[in-house]
Amino acid sequence: MKNRNKGLWDEDRNNRRQFLKLAGFGALGLITGGAWPLLNHSAASQNPETIPGAEFNPDLDISLTARPGEVSIFPGDPTRVWQYQALVHKGDKTRVVEIPSSYLGPIIKMHQGEKIRIRFNNSIQEESIVHWHGLHVPAIMDGHPRYVVPQGQHYLYEFEVKNRAGTYWYHPHPHGRTGPQVYKGLAGLFLVSDEEEQSLGLPDGEYDIPLVLQDRMFDPDNQLVYTSGHMMEQMTGFLGDWIMVNGMPDFTLPASTCAYRLRLLNGSNSRIYKLAWKDGCPLTIIGTDGGLLERPVYRRYAFLGPGERLEIWADFSDRPIDFETSLISLPFDTGGMGGSRMGRGMMMGGGMGQNQSLPNGAGFAVFKIKVTKQVKKTRTLPEKLSEIRPFQQDEAVNNFNPRQFYLTMRHMQWSINGRVFQIEDVADDEIVRLGSKEIWEFHNTGGGMMNMMNMPHPIHLHGKQFRVIERSGVRHDGYVDEGWKDTVLLMPGERIKILVDFDDYPGMFLYHCHNLEHEDMGMMRNYFVRKS
Ligand code: C2O
Ligand code: CU
Ligand code: CU
Repeated sequence: MKNRNKGLWDEDRNNRRQFLKLAGFGALGLITGGAWPLLNHSAASQNPETIPGAEFNPDLDISLTARPGEVSIFPGDPTRVWQYQALVHKGDKTRVVEIPSSYLGPIIKMHQGEKIRIRFNNSIQEESIVHWHGLHVPAIMDGHPRYVVPQGQHYLYEFEVKNRAGTYWYHPHPHGRTGPQVYKGLAGLFLVSDEEEQSLGLPDGEYDIPLVLQDRMFDPDNQLVYTSGHMMEQMTGFLGDWIMVNGMPDFTLPASTCAYRLRLLNGSNSRIYKLAWKDGCPLTIIGTDGGLLERPVYRRYAFLGPGERLEIWADFSDRPIDFETSLISLPFDTGGMGGSRMGRGMMMGGGMGQNQSLPNGAGFAVFKIKVTKQVKKTRTLPEKLSEIRPFQQDEAVNNFNPRQFYLTMRHMQWSINGRVFQIEDVADDEIVRLGSKEIWEFHNTGGGMMNMMNMPHPIHLHGKQFRVIERSGVRHDGYVDEGWKDTVLLMPGERIKILVDFDDYPGMFLYHCHNLEHEDMGMMRNYFVRKS
């Protein structure tokens, strides 16, 4: 199938050059230092001369190009980044929403049941491929690293959006280079709506706010600094000292006196957030990775590991003008390496600096909200948000014998069941049967070398939304395990059981730690869904 993609695109090389020149695309996303940018619809449009896959009739047909760019983040020199840029060939142009003055890719908005074609163009100087995190798509559409394309080449995606309404996202997935490519700016949101969601009348438009949380480090010339590649740094994962929201530092959201739907994505390489309101009010959580919860849940704080999403209802209708609050990340103990306890003492012998100023588990403000506008708009939080079928544990074919996965360190390398990623490698115990439900149990119960090497691991499965059926070990609270998930955070000492339904799409998919440095060093494996 890789050849199919390549073949379809070979004759199209000139077109590509042509549309890259179009409409001063390079100038997008620059300028302004303002606080909250109003989202605008600025993707240009062009008639493609070749239409790949004529039998596929997409509702939205876009090009998505990964390319070098520049963004003004701080006064002075612009920051060199890599960015996704979109061009709408066919369909409603408002489905592709650029975030001005952000390195992030455009927000792609789809409705359940619609078809999308995405012509990915790789214009960065290394191999890449795009993965649709959380979407349920066929294996060849999932962005497996074996489908990477070099600079100047393309990959064609065509799929129907089957997911429930929710906050999904996309990012590169080349083996060994996901961390640096995401870090340089390649990531974007993919929002899905459906009828159930639309019937609720949740805050929409300017009251539906995407918030992508990432940490970054900059040199004095405003350029991004990634890890030194030092092994110890890889093992903890990258940690920056600037907390960026939608690609902007010191982010403030100007709000009106009404209710908001805040969609949070942790798009950081390895930083974990323990989110809370500064004033101690509980968070009203309405959604997670796979969309809305059945009912709102209330938490004093909630963990958000790399790759995870949370949707929060925030109502400012009783607040006066000039009211200010912040979403903060509370301090917590990561229980080992890279954290506030062991990590610093153990690792900070020399110039590895970056953890020192803001280690994983340090407290900080994530962004500020300031009420600036009086509006008359009342919305009530629905008591019931969604229909979520209770899971039936005994439907799993391995109910009494869950598949076991141990997150361990082996030869100074993070691994899953002692194995590291091999591009085509699937072990016998990584093969599942199409049409079956299974329980998978992950153990984060010891990295070896005593406790020093214990670290949190956010575990992610491709192609599936699953249910968390049990969490045990250390009893941290602050997890939102309700609803549908595709990524689950395991703190050291924890065990988790998930129920996965391999109802369709055979083939090879990934599961891995979403700490991107762990993933890049091979804390990732294939699983294979076999047709009986
Ligand atoms: Cu966002 Cu393979 O993951
Ligand atoms: Cu994924
Ligand atoms: Cu990990």
